[in-house]
Amino acid sequence: MIASTDPTTANPIFFHDYHPAPADLRAEVLAGLAKPRKQLSPKLFYDAEGSKLFDAICELPEYYPTRTEIAILRAHGAEMAQRLGREALLVELGSGSSLKIQVLLEALRPAVYMPVDISSAHLQQSAQALAAAFPKLEVHAVCADYSAPFELPVDDHEHPRAAFFPGSSIGNFEPDEAEQLLHRVGAILGAEGRLLIGVDLIKERERLERAYNDAAGVTAAFNMNLLSRINRELEGGFDLSRFRHEAFFNPEQSRVEMHLLSTCDQRVAVAGATFAFREGETIHTECSHKYSIDGFHALAGRAGFEAEQVWTDPEQLFSVHCLVYRPSERPSAMRAEP
Ligand code: AVJ
Repeated sequence: MIASTDPTTANPIFFHDYHPAPADLRAEVLAGLAKPRKQLSPKLFYDAEGSKLFDAICELPEYYPTRTEIAILRAHGAEMAQRLGREALLVELGSGSSLKIQVLLEALRPAVYMPVDISSAHLQQSAQALAAAFPKLEVHAVCADYSAPFELPVDDHEHPRAAFFPGSSIGNFEPDEAEQLLHRVGAILGAEGRLLIGVDLIKERERLERAYNDAAGVTAAFNMNLLSRINRELEGGFDLSRFRHEAFFNPEQSRVEMHLLSTCDQRVAVAGATFAFREGETIHTECSHKYSIDGFHALAGRAGFEAEQVWTDPEQLFSVHCLVYRPSERPSAMRAEP
């Protein structure tokens, strides 16, 4: 752990680096490309360049989730704060540039803010900015992969615990993985801990597909950056002119899928191995699951969370839920691993 004191604030920022990425990238890419249906995890998008491109996506006219969620947080922040309670230990999963939490911090007034993000650069910058804006706030930045089990770097239970998981990032997980992740969040929070979570809603296909095929090509660049990243970090030989971005809604699975499509038959070297691609073959890079309010509540319920309240926008594009962790006596096989 590194504690650094920003001269503009009275409080130190604690930085906890659990970073497993360098070893993982190589193994994950080699395993993903060796599958009969090639697949890479969307968490690999977020290197420094990918994080910048994601921030640009959030500003796109077609990408409604970010601005809609922020509007919901602005409109109902006071109510949300009441639900979560003051002086909390507030964990944010996938904090990115921490823009959304700033909308809530004024009303929420947590004692400790603990952003968790896989991108070290993003995390350090945003932790500094937040500590400067809220000098009384104790900030513990945790660089970790929240999709794998991890422990909080502090062990105090004097503050009520709450978690903030915005952006419909939960949609990146398969429903059964999402359930397991919520279980682990519940275990971190403890009984009666609150989870404030943003979830993108099912809507007409055109609206969904436009959000992932923007006219400026930023989403395409975000998807293609994964190949550039592999070229940069794993001595990859991807020719970017021989792949293109593809995104479509899959209604059976209720998800938007992103792929990188090979435009010809080709062989590509990566980290010493060689992979063959057929013309039209894809690497599946992301699933973005969309839920109905009831469908999401059912999933949360299976993870031990009860729905307390849900807020949406007038067009019902996006939802923000307050859930409370109340694990009941369920068969132990259904509980999260210890
Ligand atoms: C950050 C996972 C919620 O699925 O909409 C944006 C990522 N991918 N455009 C999403 C993303 C393409 C985003 N999440």
